Amino acid sequence: MKIILAGPPGSGKGTQAEILSQKLDYAHFSTGNVFRDHLARKTSIGIKANDYMKEGKLVPDDVTLQITKDFVTTNTRKGIIFDGFPRTIGQAQGLDKILTELNDKIDCVIFIELSDDEIIRRLTARRTCERCGTIYNLDFNPPKQNNICDKCGGKLLQRADDTEAVIRNRLVVYENQTKELKNYYKNSGKMHVIDAIIGRDKVQAHILKIISPQ
Ligand code: AP5
Ligand code: MG
Repeated sequence: MKIILAGPPGSGKGTQAEILSQKLDYAHFSTGNVFRDHLARKTSIGIKANDYMKEGKLVPDDVTLQITKDFVTTNTRKGIIFDGFPRTIGQAQGLDKILTELNDKIDCVIFIELSDDEIIRRLTARRTCERCGTIYNLDFNPPKQNNICDKCGGKLLQRADDTEAVIRNRLVVYENQTKELKNYYKNSGKMHVIDAIIGRDKVQAHILKIISPQ
């Protein structure tokens, strides 16, 4: 099964994708994580992507579609959770083309939504493990030990794009470039919307209910 988790920054796409991919043994494909990994390794993709990410802008579609094609065509897991991809109509069309060539398709598109105020509250309190990528929140699920990952003992970091100014840019970009994806998927019969103000576990239960009949 191929599942898209879409939604504004900080709505919980990564949190939900992480739990769901472990539960279902699916691959978790986060374009944001892939770009951050490239940047950490100082590849040309990472250096190029960072010019956009540090300002909260979208990385150009050709770069994003290339990393997606590389991932999808080499994936060996029975399912993929797309986290934060696609974010433009061009990316959605590109993904459909990649999957069609593999005789495959998207099964489910879930928009996880949240108000701007709550997004800013959650993102300024987010910390991520530099080693294993586990996501924490200082308000809602803090680590047991200050700045140390419960799972692997790695150091917890604040993302460079989680300053209030960059978060506000990311919200504008979402409004202007990504929200229109709802029109792309709305007649497909595959689109669902969840308000993420409910807690993490309730959002997870809702997602499981959506995907379980398929
Ligand atoms: P990316 O890394 O994907 O960032 P994003 O979309 O802005 O989303 P976030 O990762 O910030 O939030 P999230 O929804 O995953 O929330 P999380 O689960 O962490 O992209 C970064 C950048 O890369 C983009 O700006 C762009 O430049 C580039 N990029 C990426 N993909 C691209 C693409 N397809 N095309 C072009 N450019 C691309 O949760 C947030 C916090 O809330 C956490 O602290 C968490 O613990 C907490 N939380 C989660 N759920 C709940 C809950 N239910 N209740 C309470 N707290 C919760
Ligand atoms: Mg994320």
